[in-house]
Amino acid sequence: MRYAPFMAGASGSGNPFRPGTGRMPPVLAGRDQELALAERRLGELAAGSVPPQGLLLYGPRGTGKTVLLERIARRAKELGLRAQQLAAPTLRSEDSLVADLRERAGLTETRLTGVQLGPIGGTAQPAAPSRSVAHLFAAWVETAHSPLVVVLDEAQAIGPEAGMVFFDAVQAAAMRDLPFLLVAAGTPDAPRRLRQAGSFMERAFENLPLGRLPRTATKQALAEPTVNAGRPLAPDALALLAEESQDYPYFVQLLGSAVWDAAAAARAPEIRAEVARHGLAHARAETSRFYGRRFAEARERGVHRALPALASLMEQPGARLDDAALDAFLDRAVVDGAGSGDPTRLQTTLQDLGILWEASPGRWEMGIPSFAQHVLERSGSRPPG
Ligand SMILES: Nc1ncnc2c1ncn2[C@@H]1O[C@H](COP(=O)(O)OP(=O)(O)OP(=O)(O)O)[C@@H](O)[C@H]1O
Ligand SMILES: [Mg+2]
Repeated sequence: MRYAPFMAGASGSGNPFRPGTGRMPPVLAGRDQELALAERRLGELAAGSVPPQGLLLYGPRGTGKTVLLERIARRAKELGLRAQQLAAPTLRSEDSLVADLRERAGLTETRLTGVQLGPIGGTAQPAAPSRSVAHLFAAWVETAHSPLVVVLDEAQAIGPEAGMVFFDAVQAAAMRDLPFLLVAAGTPDAPRRLRQAGSFMERAFENLPLGRLPRTATKQALAEPTVNAGRPLAPDALALLAEESQDYPYFVQLLGSAVWDAAAAARAPEIRAEVARHGLAHARAETSRFYGRRFAEARERGVHRALPALASLMEQPGARLDDAALDAFLDRAVVDGAGSGDPTRLQTTLQDLGILWEASPGRWEMGIPSFAQHVLERSGSRPPG
């Protein structure tokens, strides 16, 4: 099945865009391949055959992992499956995992035993505490007749020990052919962190990288909501907005929303380039805050000193590095004192943070391209644009 763009919230003359974490966009554009794969896996599960691997969506912040998970969960329910979210903090320690799974499996602290229902009800006795995560996970899958889709967001936050216990349980359930599917999402370090939670992980997931949108999808995500909400983008404004968004899903919503508001304030029946420029100017404060948070993350991980040199290489639209150019940059950066003197560690950290993103094999880009401009402005190499 091909997915029609999913429409939500685009009614009346209100702003149709949905900037913000986990907010379902009015048009979920450019994710047909991922959705088609999820559709196949969900279909297999609904038909009674257990898919051998779960799905792991991973990519830089703001690329739409959470909304895609939500869309897949919704589709699972349409197919009559159970879709239940397992919160990543639950997987930080074994204790919290056990407590959470006990509840899901319907195993409370005390169980009614025997059949002697007297006037005051049954005889309550403390049940033997079931600590076996494998047992609890299997019980969760088997609490209801319909197959279970376990939805796991922010997978990079899973603790290594609890993760290991959890994935052992998942493996045990898979070996018994229990009807479940794991669908997870996380930042670019998620695959590496999950690997640390056991060798089974390599085989447990099919990894799906999630990056920026194809330009046609960006245009669809911008144009359709404005048409449906009764204030269409004129072609020149659409081109401007698509370019400014850099095909980055969060910016599609953020800039779309700012431009819509500017047009609404001007009571413009159509959004033209001139009013779009006003809107874009208003959005600058928000984009700066967003870049500021990304820079703070780089500082926390000790790699911020590498950023100006990287930004100079990546400043031009469409800039990318091949493997050799990346190595040369990393070697230079550690000589200049960035990233604790270890090029491999520097690369891993930049990748984990989604600052560097391998868009396809051997093709390295900035996770958010205009972050380069922000870094250069911040370091005084460029005037604010
Ligand atoms: N395919 C898409 N088309 C248009 N907009 C999208 C698309 N996917 C996501 N967005 C928008 O991008 C923003 C970020 O989405 P979401 O929170 O799902 O990203 P994320 O990858 O989970 O981010 P984080 O890593 O911070 O959790 C939201 O405003 C959402 O509406
Ligand atoms: Mg998310």
